[in-house]
Amino acid sequence: MSETNIPSENEFNAFKKKISSLIGLDLFNYKNAQMERRIVSLMNRNNIYKLEEYYKLLASDKGKLDEFLNMLTINVTEFFRNNDKFEELEQKYIPDLLKKHGSIKIWSAGCSCGAEIYSIAMILDRLNVLDKCTLIASDFDINIINRAKSGIYSKFEAGVTKPEYKKYFQPLGANGDKFQIDSRLTSKVKFERRDLLNGAFEKNFHLIICRNVVIYFKEEAKDKLYADFHSSLVDGGILFIGSTERIHNYKEIGYNLPSSFFYQK
Ligand SMILES: C[S@@+](CC[C@H](N)C(=O)[O-])C[C@H]1O[C@@H](n2cnc3c(N)ncnc32)[C@H](O)[C@@H]1O
Repeated sequence: MSETNIPSENEFNAFKKKISSLIGLDLFNYKNAQMERRIVSLMNRNNIYKLEEYYKLLASDKGKLDEFLNMLTINVTEFFRNNDKFEELEQKYIPDLLKKHGSIKIWSAGCSCGAEIYSIAMILDRLNVLDKCTLIASDFDINIINRAKSGIYSKFEAGVTKPEYKKYFQPLGANGDKFQIDSRLTSKVKFERRDLLNGAFEKNFHLIICRNVVIYFKEEAKDKLYADFHSSLVDGGILFIGSTERIHNYKEIGYNLPSSFFYQK
């Protein structure tokens, strides 16, 4: 069986340029080695050996383009991902922000299917402040946003939450393998399609959550994004990042680091 030859840098660049304009996402901001490995593996899976042919396939077959986007965007997520950090948020940062500002505006940037922002909505509801807070969640991937809006999760996805959060998942249908998030929560979140690599962001957020998104970005793209988030936060606002991530130049940008993974403007 033949295998895809590893394309040259020039070939990859030409491919990325064409795909970037096809999907409207600048692939040059993503780490090369990681993405190129995944592209080659998808080409192998489709028995395609030349990038040019692969581009033609993606431009003409919506299913294959979705497969490519799924590879690129990797939507892995879960409710209360790294639970101890969500506990810190619930016990310290959210109460502190509420005490100072009364109501708070929160953005889950790179929200995937919504597990992250609905976890926050559950925390706010338990604190009896859901109604007076503003919740925004965004992702580049329109399919995943539609899933997030529906608020429907498998038994496995819904099963990972702590007992006190079970009440927010209503069984759907007869066989109990799907669950629907309480409509008070789904109606509270405004979902938007947004490319974090491109465009001006809204201002005056008290809390921005951007976790496990920038791991695929090049250093320059990360630096710009963290600076953009800084401009979008109110003074004292918090940026909450993923448990494998660090902002090395946080002082330079203007953040403090009150505890691991929480950066404060
Ligand atoms: C691994 S998921 C993380 C989900 C959630 N934040 C968490 O930590 O569980 C990464 C998400 O980032 C999104 N993403 C990747 N590149 C993006 C971009 N340029 N703009 C907006 N979202 C992007 C993907 O579509 C995907 O849903």
